Amino acid sequence: MYVCLCHGVTDSEIESAIDAGAHSMKKLSQELNVGSQCGKCCQCTKKVLNSRLMQI
Ligand code: FES
Repeated sequence: MYVCLCHGVTDSEIESAIDAGAHSMKKLSQELNVGSQCGKCCQCTKKVLNSRLMQI
């Protein structure tokens, strides 16, 4: 599922980045550009981040 339409980033790409150590919105934004354009994906990205961190 696409989370960030501006940059074509999917939830599985976000999860892979989290698994590789991007444990904050800032790091995810730096690595994948999520939230760096319109910002509409921030809330969904946070949900993916929080649920992934709960699993680690
Ligand atoms: Fe992610 Fe626009 S949808 S910055």
